[in-house]
Amino acid sequence: MRCNFCEDYQDRGPNMKKAGPILQVTGLSKNFGTLRALSNISFELAGGKILGLVGDNGAGRSTLLRILSGGLQPSGGQIYLEGKATRFKSPADAMKKGIAITYQFSQLVDIAKVWENFFMGRELTKRIGPLAFLDVQKMKHLAAGAIAKYGHTFDVEREARELSGGQRRLLAISRAIQANPKIFLMDEPTHGLSKRVINEIFDLLRKTKEASDTSIIITAQWYEQVCDFVDEVIVLRRGEVVGHFDAESADGGQVFKLAMGLTP
Ligand SMILES: Nc1ncnc2c1ncn2[C@@H]1O[C@H](COP(=O)(O)OP(=O)(O)OP(=O)(O)O)[C@@H](O)[C@H]1O
Ligand SMILES: [Mg+2]
Repeated sequence: MRCNFCEDYQDRGPNMKKAGPILQVTGLSKNFGTLRALSNISFELAGGKILGLVGDNGAGRSTLLRILSGGLQPSGGQIYLEGKATRFKSPADAMKKGIAITYQFSQLVDIAKVWENFFMGRELTKRIGPLAFLDVQKMKHLAAGAIAKYGHTFDVEREARELSGGQRRLLAISRAIQANPKIFLMDEPTHGLSKRVINEIFDLLRKTKEASDTSIIITAQWYEQVCDFVDEVIVLRRGEVVGHFDAESADGGQVFKLAMGLTP
């Protein structure tokens, strides 16, 4: 089943601002030994659009995002980034190509401070004569500014383990989007958070999207967790696409039944 959005997009012809989808996935599969985690996954993502990936436990959402961010290699199929066949050799390679991800389970280092987590792996340095030093003041200042930009002020000197679940998620998200990605992948960012924090995260992401035309893929177990946020939704079940709708035509009850394998 194809969504109306994708068909409209393809029909807009050569004069449209963007010539094609930013991301295209065709026939993607992933086996773990004899277990088929993903089977023949195909979809397109247009610039500045938000795609939801919904499915029950083990449906393959995290596996798909890990392939799209270089953490896993597919067993088959193809990925096109801005129309060009692409392989992400590693997370660093995917990041270089404009893909950022926040994982289902926090990747923050608990005993590192907020600013250290924010710049982990891309620390800023300054030169004094022939020597290079970490530019701690600048990193603290930039981390505080990035977090404050989204209406939050938590002390960047605090260790990550002292943050609440929502603050951890906001830190991970603001760290990822600081790199100004073309595509931002988020694995279950709403899980275990209150409606208020979820709305804050969605507001933050809308601002980012408006400012930079970033495309987003967000996973959730239930469509209701993301229905106010996405432009379209793909339903995964046991590694297969069992539904693909634009948000206007998606029906929560039908998505649920497809995700659970119940007869409509
Ligand atoms: N590294 C791995 N080795 C072996 N099997 C794996 C591995 N990662 C995932 N799987 C299997 O692949 C399938 C899809 O898992 P995945 O984590 O992608 O699902 P999911 O939709 O993210 O579910 P949830 O987040 O609710 O657990 C599951 O059957 C899982 O057991
Ligand atoms: Mg998962």
